Amino acid sequence: MTFETVINLDIDGPRINRHLYGHFAEHLGRCIYGGFYVGEDSEVPNAGGIRLDVVEALRALDIPNLRWPGGCFADEYHWRDGIGPRAERPVMVNTHWGGVEENNHFGTHEFMALCELLGAEPYISGNVGSGTVREMSEWVEYLTRDGDSPMARLRKTNGRDAPWPVRFWGLGNEAWGCGGNMTAQQYATEARRYGTYCRDYGDNKLYKIAAGANGTDYAWTETLMRQLGHLGCQRVTSSFYHALSVHHYTLSGPWEKKGSATVFSTDEYYTTMAEAARIDEVLSGHAAVMDCYDPNRTVGLVLDEWGTWFDVEPGTNPGFLYQQNTLRDALVASVHFDVFHRHADRLVMANIAQTVNVLQAMILTDPDTNALVLTPTYHVFRMNRAHQDATSLRVDVRTPPPSRPVGDTTLTTVSMSASHRDGRLLISLSNLDAATPTDVTVDLRGGAVTDVESLILTAGTPQDHNTPESPSTVRPRPYEGATVESGRLQVYLPPHSFVTVAGTLSD
Ligand code: AHR
Repeated sequence: MTFETVINLDIDGPRINRHLYGHFAEHLGRCIYGGFYVGEDSEVPNAGGIRLDVVEALRALDIPNLRWPGGCFADEYHWRDGIGPRAERPVMVNTHWGGVEENNHFGTHEFMALCELLGAEPYISGNVGSGTVREMSEWVEYLTRDGDSPMARLRKTNGRDAPWPVRFWGLGNEAWGCGGNMTAQQYATEARRYGTYCRDYGDNKLYKIAAGANGTDYAWTETLMRQLGHLGCQRVTSSFYHALSVHHYTLSGPWEKKGSATVFSTDEYYTTMAEAARIDEVLSGHAAVMDCYDPNRTVGLVLDEWGTWFDVEPGTNPGFLYQQNTLRDALVASVHFDVFHRHADRLVMANIAQTVNVLQAMILTDPDTNALVLTPTYHVFRMNRAHQDATSLRVDVRTPPPSRPVGDTTLTTVSMSASHRDGRLLISLSNLDAATPTDVTVDLRGGAVTDVESLILTAGTPQDHNTPESPSTVRPRPYEGATVESGRLQVYLPPHSFVTVAGTLSD
Protein backbone atom coordinates (compact mmCIF):
# COMPACT_ATOMS: atom_id res chain seq x y z
CA MET A 1 0.00 0.00 0.00
CA THR A 2 1.23 3.51 -0.80
CA PHE A 3 0.37 6.50 1.34
CA GLU A 4 0.65 9.77 -0.58
CA THR A 5 1.36 13.08 1.14
CA VAL A 6 2.51 16.57 0.26
CA ILE A 7 4.76 19.04 2.09
CA ASN A 8 4.65 22.65 0.91
CA LEU A 9 8.26 23.64 1.52
CA ASP A 10 7.47 27.30 0.88
CA ILE A 11 4.64 27.60 3.46
CA ASP A 12 5.94 27.95 7.01
CA GLY A 13 4.04 26.82 10.09
CA PRO A 14 4.77 27.89 13.68
CA ARG A 15 8.22 27.57 15.22
CA ILE A 16 8.85 24.39 17.19
CA ASN A 17 10.03 25.60 20.58
CA ARG A 18 13.16 23.67 21.57
CA HIS A 19 11.64 23.27 25.02
CA LEU A 20 9.25 20.66 23.57
CA TYR A 21 12.28 18.38 23.95
CA GLY A 22 12.55 19.06 27.70
CA HIS A 23 13.31 16.60 30.49
CA PHE A 24 12.34 15.79 34.05
CA ALA A 25 14.38 14.58 37.02
CA GLU A 26 12.62 13.81 40.28
CA HIS A 27 13.89 12.56 43.63
CA LEU A 28 12.30 9.23 42.83
CA GLY A 29 13.92 5.81 42.86
CA ARG A 30 17.31 5.91 41.14
CA CYS A 31 16.74 8.99 38.99
CA ILE A 32 18.84 11.39 41.09
CA TYR A 33 20.81 9.06 43.39
CA GLY A 34 22.64 6.48 41.28
CA GLY A 35 21.34 8.04 38.07
CA PHE A 36 22.50 11.63 37.86
CA TYR A 37 24.38 11.78 41.14
CA VAL A 38 26.79 9.29 42.69
CA GLY A 39 28.59 11.53 45.18
CA GLU A 40 32.13 12.84 45.02
CA ASP A 41 33.67 9.69 46.53
CA SER A 42 32.27 7.37 43.88
CA GLU A 43 34.58 5.45 41.57
CA VAL A 44 32.27 6.46 38.72
CA PRO A 45 33.92 9.49 37.05
CA ASN A 46 32.06 12.53 38.33
CA ALA A 47 32.17 16.30 38.73
CA GLY A 48 31.09 17.29 42.23
CA GLY A 49 29.25 13.97 42.46
CA ILE A 50 27.45 14.27 39.08
CA ARG A 51 27.98 11.31 36.73
CA LEU A 52 30.00 12.41 33.72
CA ASP A 53 28.93 9.51 31.49
CA VAL A 54 25.28 10.51 31.96
CA VAL A 55 26.12 14.16 31.23
CA GLU A 56 28.03 13.22 28.08
CA ALA A 57 25.19 11.06 26.77
CA LEU A 58 22.60 13.75 27.44
CA ARG A 59 24.67 16.52 25.90
CA ALA A 60 24.34 14.68 22.59
CA LEU A 61 20.57 15.27 22.82
CA ASP A 62 20.89 19.06 23.20
CA ILE A 63 18.45 18.87 26.07
CA PRO A 64 16.93 22.33 26.46
CA ASN A 65 15.65 22.22 30.04
CA LEU A 66 15.45 19.98 33.08
CA ARG A 67 12.51 20.01 35.50
CA TRP A 68 13.32 19.35 39.19
CA PRO A 69 12.84 18.31 42.05
CA GLY A 70 9.44 16.75 41.21
CA GLY A 71 6.73 15.69 40.54
CA CYS A 72 4.99 14.77 43.71
CA PHE A 73 8.29 15.17 45.56
CA ALA A 74 8.31 18.91 44.78
CA ASP A 75 5.37 19.48 47.12
CA GLU A 76 7.16 17.99 50.09
CA TYR A 77 10.59 19.40 49.30
CA HIS A 78 11.97 22.17 51.48
CA TRP A 79 14.84 23.78 49.63
CA ARG A 80 16.68 25.01 52.71
CA ASP A 81 17.29 21.35 53.66
CA GLY A 82 19.37 20.99 50.50
CA ILE A 83 21.96 23.77 50.90
CA GLY A 84 25.13 24.15 52.98
CA PRO A 85 27.66 21.45 53.96
CA ARG A 86 26.23 18.09 52.88
CA ALA A 87 27.05 16.31 56.13
CA GLU A 88 24.89 18.82 58.00
CA ARG A 89 21.86 18.64 55.76
CA PRO A 90 18.79 17.15 57.45
CA VAL A 91 17.41 13.78 56.40
CA MET A 92 13.75 13.42 55.45
CA VAL A 93 11.45 10.63 54.36
CA ASN A 94 10.41 10.54 50.71
CA THR A 95 6.81 9.62 51.48
CA HIS A 96 5.67 9.42 47.87
CA TRP A 97 8.38 7.24 46.47
CA GLY A 98 9.19 4.12 48.43
CA GLY A 99 9.26 5.73 51.88
CA VAL A 100 13.05 5.85 51.68
CA GLU A 101 15.29 8.35 53.41
CA GLU A 102 16.38 11.40 51.43
CA ASN A 103 19.68 12.81 52.68
CA ASN A 104 19.40 16.02 50.69
CA HIS A 105 22.92 15.65 49.32
CA PHE A 106 21.60 16.66 45.91
CA GLY A 107 20.14 20.14 46.40
CA THR A 108 19.96 23.54 44.76
CA HIS A 109 23.69 23.99 44.09
CA GLU A 110 24.07 20.44 42.75
CA PHE A 111 21.04 20.86 40.47
CA MET A 112 22.28 24.14 39.07
CA ALA A 113 25.73 22.60 38.50
CA LEU A 114 24.04 19.74 36.65
CA CYS A 115 22.15 22.18 34.42
CA GLU A 116 25.40 24.02 33.67
CA LEU A 117 27.13 20.76 32.72
CA LEU A 118 24.21 19.78 30.48
CA GLY A 119 23.87 23.23 28.93
CA ALA A 120 20.17 23.02 29.88
CA GLU A 121 17.91 25.65 31.44
CA PRO A 122 16.61 24.84 34.92
CA TYR A 123 12.88 24.42 35.42
CA ILE A 124 12.22 24.49 39.16
CA SER A 125 8.99 23.18 40.65
CA GLY A 126 8.23 25.05 43.86
CA ASN A 127 6.37 23.64 46.85
CA VAL A 128 2.75 24.80 47.12
CA GLY A 129 1.33 21.65 48.74
CA SER A 130 3.27 21.71 52.03
CA GLY A 131 5.38 24.85 51.75
CA THR A 132 4.71 28.51 52.32
CA VAL A 133 4.59 31.57 50.11
CA ARG A 134 7.60 32.92 52.03
CA GLU A 135 9.61 29.74 51.45
CA MET A 136 9.01 29.86 47.70
CA SER A 137 9.63 33.57 47.50
CA GLU A 138 12.96 33.18 49.32
CA TRP A 139 14.04 30.35 47.02
CA VAL A 140 13.58 32.69 44.06
CA GLU A 141 15.59 35.35 45.90
CA TYR A 142 18.33 32.83 46.78
CA LEU A 143 18.70 31.72 43.19
CA THR A 144 18.27 34.90 41.22
CA ARG A 145 18.94 38.03 43.29
CA ASP A 146 22.17 39.91 42.76
CA GLY A 147 23.62 42.41 45.25
CA ASP A 148 23.01 42.44 48.94
CA SER A 149 19.98 40.76 50.48
CA PRO A 150 19.47 38.04 53.08
CA MET A 151 19.09 35.20 50.58
CA ALA A 152 21.81 36.50 48.25
CA ARG A 153 24.17 36.60 51.26
CA LEU A 154 23.19 33.06 52.21
CA ARG A 155 23.91 31.86 48.66
CA LYS A 156 27.32 33.54 48.77
CA THR A 157 28.06 31.91 52.12
CA ASN A 158 27.39 28.60 50.40
CA GLY A 159 29.98 29.34 47.73
CA ARG A 160 28.08 30.91 44.86
CA ASP A 161 28.57 34.63 44.32
CA ALA A 162 26.66 35.31 41.13
CA PRO A 163 22.95 34.63 40.90
CA TRP A 164 21.85 31.95 38.47
CA PRO A 165 19.58 32.74 35.55
CA VAL A 166 16.31 30.89 36.18
CA ARG A 167 13.38 31.36 33.85
CA PHE A 168 11.00 28.45 34.28
CA TRP A 169 9.23 28.33 37.64
CA GLY A 170 6.50 25.83 38.51
CA LEU A 171 3.86 26.82 41.07
CA GLY A 172 3.43 23.35 42.58
CA ASN A 173 2.62 20.05 40.87
CA GLU A 174 -0.57 18.05 40.38
CA ALA A 175 -2.44 20.23 42.87
CA TRP A 176 -5.53 18.07 42.18
CA GLY A 177 -3.71 15.06 43.72
CA CYS A 178 -0.33 14.62 45.40
CA GLY A 179 0.21 18.38 45.37
CA GLY A 180 -2.46 19.08 47.97
CA ASN A 181 -5.73 17.51 46.79
CA MET A 182 -7.18 20.91 45.98
CA THR A 183 -10.14 21.84 43.87
CA ALA A 184 -9.41 23.85 40.75
CA GLN A 185 -10.79 26.97 42.39
CA GLN A 186 -8.74 26.48 45.57
CA TYR A 187 -5.58 25.97 43.56
CA ALA A 188 -6.26 28.92 41.26
CA THR A 189 -6.44 31.16 44.33
CA GLU A 190 -3.20 29.68 45.68
CA ALA A 191 -1.46 30.05 42.32
CA ARG A 192 -2.33 33.75 42.22
CA ARG A 193 -0.97 34.19 45.73
CA TYR A 194 2.25 32.23 45.22
CA GLY A 195 2.73 33.78 41.78
CA THR A 196 2.48 37.26 43.28
CA TYR A 197 5.48 36.76 45.57
CA CYS A 198 7.77 35.05 43.07
CA ARG A 199 9.59 38.22 42.07
CA ASP A 200 11.73 39.18 39.13
CA TYR A 201 15.16 40.32 40.31
CA GLY A 202 17.35 42.43 38.01
CA ASP A 203 17.29 41.04 34.50
CA ASN A 204 15.91 37.69 35.60
CA LYS A 205 12.34 37.33 34.36
CA LEU A 206 10.43 34.33 35.67
CA TYR A 207 8.11 32.39 33.40
CA LYS A 208 5.64 31.04 35.94
CA ILE A 209 3.86 27.79 35.19
CA ALA A 210 0.66 26.95 37.09
CA ALA A 211 0.06 23.30 37.98
CA GLY A 212 -2.45 22.14 35.43
CA ALA A 213 -4.89 19.44 34.63
CA ASN A 214 -4.86 15.69 34.79
CA GLY A 215 -5.34 14.42 31.24
CA THR A 216 -8.69 15.56 29.85
CA ASP A 217 -9.81 17.66 32.84
CA TYR A 218 -10.61 20.69 30.69
CA ALA A 219 -12.63 22.28 33.50
CA TRP A 220 -9.38 22.67 35.47
CA THR A 221 -7.82 24.57 32.60
CA GLU A 222 -10.89 26.75 32.27
CA THR A 223 -10.76 27.68 35.95
CA LEU A 224 -7.09 28.65 35.71
CA MET A 225 -7.66 30.66 32.55
CA ARG A 226 -10.57 32.49 34.15
CA GLN A 227 -8.28 33.55 37.01
CA LEU A 228 -6.06 35.33 34.51
CA GLY A 229 -8.77 37.61 33.16
CA HIS A 230 -12.34 38.61 33.69
CA LEU A 231 -15.27 36.29 33.98
CA GLY A 232 -16.32 34.75 30.69
CA CYS A 233 -14.27 34.25 27.57
CA GLN A 234 -12.39 37.51 27.62
CA ARG A 235 -8.82 38.51 27.11
CA VAL A 236 -6.16 37.56 29.60
CA THR A 237 -5.26 40.64 31.64
CA SER A 238 -2.85 39.50 34.34
CA SER A 239 0.34 37.52 34.72
CA PHE A 240 0.26 35.71 38.05
CA TYR A 241 1.35 32.85 35.85
CA HIS A 242 2.37 32.72 32.20
CA ALA A 243 1.56 29.13 31.36
CA LEU A 244 -0.51 26.17 32.49
CA SER A 245 0.69 22.62 32.62
CA VAL A 246 -1.01 19.32 31.87
CA HIS A 247 0.11 15.73 32.51
CA HIS A 248 -0.70 12.75 30.32
CA TYR A 249 0.83 9.28 30.61
CA THR A 250 0.59 6.33 28.19
CA LEU A 251 -0.42 3.00 29.76
CA SER A 252 -1.18 -0.27 28.03
CA GLY A 253 -3.87 -1.28 30.51
CA PRO A 254 -5.84 0.04 33.49
CA TRP A 255 -4.02 1.90 36.30
CA GLU A 256 -4.19 -1.19 38.56
CA LYS A 257 -2.48 -3.37 35.91
CA LYS A 258 -0.49 -1.20 33.58
CA GLY A 259 1.22 -4.11 31.86
CA SER A 260 4.84 -5.14 31.48
CA ALA A 261 7.38 -2.90 29.76
CA THR A 262 8.89 -5.82 27.82
CA VAL A 263 6.43 -8.72 27.80
CA PHE A 264 3.35 -7.62 25.88
CA SER A 265 1.01 -8.99 23.26
CA THR A 266 0.36 -7.47 19.84
CA ASP A 267 -3.01 -6.29 21.17
CA GLU A 268 -1.29 -4.52 24.06
CA TYR A 269 1.17 -3.00 21.60
CA TYR A 270 -1.68 -1.48 19.59
CA THR A 271 -3.53 -0.34 22.72
CA THR A 272 -0.36 1.47 23.79
CA MET A 273 -0.04 3.15 20.40
CA ALA A 274 -3.70 4.25 20.44
CA GLU A 275 -3.19 5.65 23.96
CA ALA A 276 -0.09 7.53 22.81
CA ALA A 277 -1.96 9.01 19.85
CA ARG A 278 -4.62 10.33 22.27
CA ILE A 279 -2.20 13.08 23.25
CA ASP A 280 -3.53 14.92 20.19
CA GLU A 281 -7.05 14.95 21.63
CA VAL A 282 -5.74 16.03 25.06
CA LEU A 283 -3.70 18.95 23.71
CA SER A 284 -6.47 19.99 21.30
CA GLY A 285 -9.00 20.06 24.15
CA HIS A 286 -6.88 22.24 26.43
CA ALA A 287 -5.83 24.49 23.54
CA ALA A 288 -9.49 25.03 22.59
CA VAL A 289 -10.36 26.17 26.12
CA MET A 290 -7.30 28.44 26.21
CA ASP A 291 -8.14 29.91 22.79
CA CYS A 292 -11.45 31.07 24.17
CA TYR A 293 -9.76 33.21 26.83
CA ASP A 294 -6.53 33.93 25.04
CA PRO A 295 -7.06 34.04 21.26
CA ASN A 296 -3.63 35.61 20.72
CA ARG A 297 -1.96 32.65 22.41
CA THR A 298 0.05 34.58 24.95
CA VAL A 299 -0.41 31.91 27.65
CA GLY A 300 1.66 28.79 27.10
CA LEU A 301 0.57 25.18 27.43
CA VAL A 302 3.23 23.01 29.07
CA LEU A 303 3.00 19.21 29.02
CA ASP A 304 5.50 18.81 31.83
CA GLU A 305 4.97 15.08 32.34
CA TRP A 306 4.43 12.60 29.52
CA GLY A 307 5.59 9.13 28.57
CA THR A 308 4.90 5.47 29.17
CA TRP A 309 4.03 4.12 32.62
CA PHE A 310 4.23 0.34 32.93
CA ASP A 311 4.50 -2.08 35.85
CA VAL A 312 7.90 -1.92 37.55
CA GLU A 313 10.48 -4.54 36.58
CA PRO A 314 10.02 -7.73 38.63
CA GLY A 315 12.05 -7.67 41.84
CA THR A 316 12.46 -3.88 41.93
CA ASN A 317 10.99 -1.51 44.52
CA PRO A 318 7.38 -0.70 43.45
CA GLY A 319 7.92 2.87 44.65
CA PHE A 320 10.91 3.38 42.34
CA LEU A 321 9.03 3.18 39.00
CA TYR A 322 11.92 1.47 37.24
CA GLN A 323 10.92 0.03 33.87
CA GLN A 324 12.75 -1.24 30.78
CA ASN A 325 12.33 0.57 27.49
CA THR A 326 11.65 -1.12 24.16
CA LEU A 327 11.14 -0.18 20.54
CA ARG A 328 7.48 0.30 21.51
CA ASP A 329 8.54 3.16 23.82
CA ALA A 330 10.54 4.70 20.98
CA LEU A 331 7.43 4.75 18.79
CA VAL A 332 5.36 6.23 21.61
CA ALA A 333 7.94 9.05 21.73
CA SER A 334 8.02 9.60 17.96
CA VAL A 335 4.21 9.82 17.82
CA HIS A 336 4.21 12.36 20.66
CA PHE A 337 6.75 14.54 18.87
CA ASP A 338 4.70 14.59 15.67
CA VAL A 339 1.70 15.76 17.69
CA PHE A 340 3.82 18.33 19.58
CA HIS A 341 5.04 19.80 16.30
CA ARG A 342 1.45 20.19 15.12
CA HIS A 343 0.54 22.03 18.34
CA ALA A 344 3.58 24.29 18.29
CA ASP A 345 1.41 27.41 18.20
CA ARG A 346 0.22 26.77 21.78
CA LEU A 347 2.48 24.11 23.27
CA VAL A 348 5.64 25.81 24.51
CA MET A 349 7.25 23.05 26.54
CA ALA A 350 7.07 19.31 27.17
CA ASN A 351 9.05 17.18 29.61
CA ILE A 352 9.35 13.44 29.31
CA ALA A 353 9.07 11.51 32.56
CA GLN A 354 11.81 10.84 33.44
CA THR A 355 15.37 11.17 32.17
CA VAL A 356 17.24 8.42 34.03
CA ASN A 357 16.07 5.11 35.57
CA VAL A 358 12.42 6.14 36.05
CA LEU A 359 9.43 5.50 33.74
CA GLN A 360 10.23 6.25 30.06
CA ALA A 361 13.91 6.96 30.55
CA MET A 362 16.64 7.95 28.10
CA ILE A 363 19.27 6.21 30.18
CA LEU A 364 19.24 3.16 32.45
CA THR A 365 22.11 2.56 34.86
CA ASP A 366 22.87 -0.78 36.46
CA PRO A 367 22.73 -0.50 40.26
CA ASP A 368 25.47 -3.12 40.72
CA THR A 369 27.95 -2.41 37.94
CA ASN A 370 27.00 1.21 37.17
CA ALA A 371 26.96 0.28 33.45
CA LEU A 372 24.99 2.77 31.38
CA VAL A 373 22.51 1.83 28.66
CA LEU A 374 20.96 4.17 26.10
CA THR A 375 17.32 3.27 25.52
CA PRO A 376 15.40 3.22 22.21
CA THR A 377 13.65 6.41 23.41
CA TYR A 378 17.05 8.11 23.71
CA HIS A 379 17.64 7.46 20.02
CA VAL A 380 14.35 9.11 19.00
CA PHE A 381 15.34 12.26 20.91
CA ARG A 382 18.69 12.22 19.15
CA MET A 383 17.32 11.56 15.66
CA ASN A 384 14.73 14.33 16.10
CA ARG A 385 16.95 16.97 17.66
CA ALA A 386 17.10 19.18 14.54
CA HIS A 387 13.37 19.88 15.00
CA GLN A 388 14.30 22.00 18.03
CA ASP A 389 13.74 25.68 17.22
CA ALA A 390 12.94 24.76 13.62
CA THR A 391 10.02 26.06 11.57
CA SER A 392 7.30 23.46 11.28
CA LEU A 393 5.96 22.36 7.90
CA ARG A 394 2.51 20.83 7.59
CA VAL A 395 2.20 17.33 6.16
CA ASP A 396 -0.99 17.14 4.06
CA VAL A 397 -2.44 13.81 3.02
CA ARG A 398 -3.53 12.97 -0.52
CA THR A 399 -4.75 9.45 0.14
CA PRO A 400 -6.34 8.10 3.30
CA PRO A 401 -3.61 7.19 5.79
CA PRO A 402 -3.25 3.52 6.68
CA SER A 403 -5.19 2.70 9.82
CA ARG A 404 -6.60 -0.14 11.89
CA PRO A 405 -9.31 -0.49 14.53
CA VAL A 406 -8.06 -0.61 18.12
CA GLY A 407 -10.81 -1.09 20.73
CA ASP A 408 -13.40 1.60 20.09
CA THR A 409 -11.01 3.84 18.19
CA THR A 410 -9.10 3.89 14.91
CA LEU A 411 -5.32 4.09 15.00
CA THR A 412 -3.61 5.84 12.09
CA THR A 413 -0.55 3.68 11.67
CA VAL A 414 1.72 6.14 9.87
CA SER A 415 2.71 9.27 11.76
CA MET A 416 4.77 12.09 10.24
CA SER A 417 6.02 15.61 10.84
CA ALA A 418 8.49 17.96 9.17
CA SER A 419 10.42 21.15 9.79
CA HIS A 420 13.29 23.20 8.45
CA ARG A 421 16.09 25.07 10.15
CA ASP A 422 19.19 26.75 8.76
CA GLY A 423 18.50 25.46 5.26
CA ARG A 424 18.07 21.85 6.34
CA LEU A 425 14.85 19.88 6.09
CA LEU A 426 13.98 17.12 8.58
CA ILE A 427 11.09 14.71 8.07
CA SER A 428 10.22 12.16 10.76
CA LEU A 429 8.12 9.10 9.85
CA SER A 430 6.86 6.27 12.05
CA ASN A 431 5.18 3.07 10.95
CA LEU A 432 3.20 1.81 13.93
CA ASP A 433 1.93 -1.29 12.16
CA ALA A 434 3.47 -4.30 13.90
CA ALA A 435 3.51 -6.48 10.80
CA THR A 436 2.89 -4.55 7.58
CA PRO A 437 5.36 -2.27 5.79
CA THR A 438 4.17 0.95 4.14
CA ASP A 439 5.44 2.95 1.18
CA VAL A 440 5.12 6.68 1.75
CA THR A 441 5.37 9.21 -1.05
CA VAL A 442 5.95 12.87 -0.20
CA ASP A 443 5.42 15.46 -2.91
CA LEU A 444 8.03 18.05 -1.93
CA ARG A 445 6.45 21.10 -3.57
CA GLY A 446 7.75 24.63 -3.40
CA GLY A 447 11.48 23.88 -3.14
CA ALA A 448 14.30 21.50 -3.95
CA VAL A 449 15.83 18.96 -1.59
CA THR A 450 19.33 17.56 -2.11
CA ASP A 451 21.97 15.68 -0.06
CA VAL A 452 19.38 13.36 1.41
CA GLU A 453 20.50 11.34 4.43
CA SER A 454 18.33 8.89 6.24
CA LEU A 455 18.41 6.94 9.51
CA ILE A 456 16.22 4.09 10.69
CA LEU A 457 15.43 2.84 14.18
CA THR A 458 13.85 -0.59 14.21
CA ALA A 459 14.45 -4.12 15.47
CA GLY A 460 13.22 -7.67 15.08
CA THR A 461 10.21 -7.12 17.35
CA PRO A 462 8.57 -4.21 19.19
CA GLN A 463 9.67 -5.91 22.42
CA ASP A 464 13.38 -5.55 21.61
CA HIS A 465 15.40 -3.44 24.03
CA ASN A 466 18.93 -2.68 25.14
CA THR A 467 20.75 -4.12 28.14
CA PRO A 468 24.32 -3.82 29.49
CA GLU A 469 25.04 -7.18 27.81
CA SER A 470 23.45 -6.12 24.52
CA PRO A 471 23.49 -2.30 24.45
CA SER A 472 22.93 -1.86 20.71
CA THR A 473 20.02 -4.18 19.94
CA VAL A 474 17.94 -1.12 19.15
CA ARG A 475 20.03 1.67 17.67
CA PRO A 476 19.81 3.95 14.65
CA ARG A 477 21.42 2.78 11.43
CA PRO A 478 22.02 4.57 8.11
CA TYR A 479 19.08 3.82 5.83
CA GLU A 480 18.94 3.41 2.06
CA GLY A 481 15.16 3.10 1.88
CA ALA A 482 14.49 6.82 1.32
CA THR A 483 15.17 8.49 -2.04
CA VAL A 484 14.29 11.80 -3.67
CA GLU A 485 13.68 11.94 -7.39
CA SER A 486 12.04 14.72 -9.40
CA GLY A 487 10.77 16.43 -6.24
CA ARG A 488 9.20 13.28 -4.82
CA LEU A 489 10.45 11.56 -1.70
CA GLN A 490 9.79 7.81 -1.56
CA VAL A 491 10.23 6.10 1.78
CA TYR A 492 9.81 2.42 2.49
CA LEU A 493 8.81 2.03 6.12
CA PRO A 494 9.30 -1.47 7.54
CA PRO A 495 6.87 -2.57 10.27
CA HIS A 496 7.42 -0.95 13.70
CA SER A 497 10.04 1.48 12.50
CA PHE A 498 11.04 5.11 12.92
CA VAL A 499 12.83 6.86 10.05
CA THR A 500 14.27 10.35 9.73
CA VAL A 501 15.05 11.92 6.37
CA ALA A 502 17.26 15.02 6.32
CA GLY A 503 18.23 17.08 3.29
CA THR A 504 19.44 20.46 2.11
CA LEU A 505 16.69 22.83 1.09
CA SER A 506 16.85 25.35 -1.76
CA ASP A 507 14.29 27.37 -3.76
O1 AHR B 1 6.54 11.00 37.21
C1 AHR B 1 6.07 10.30 38.31
C2 AHR B 1 4.92 11.01 39.02
O2 AHR B 1 3.82 11.07 38.18
C3 AHR B 1 5.15 12.45 39.38
O3 AHR B 1 5.83 12.59 40.59
C4 AHR B 1 3.77 12.98 39.52
O4 AHR B 1 3.69 14.36 39.23
C5 AHR B 1 2.97 12.14 38.54
O5 AHR B 1 1.82 11.66 39.10
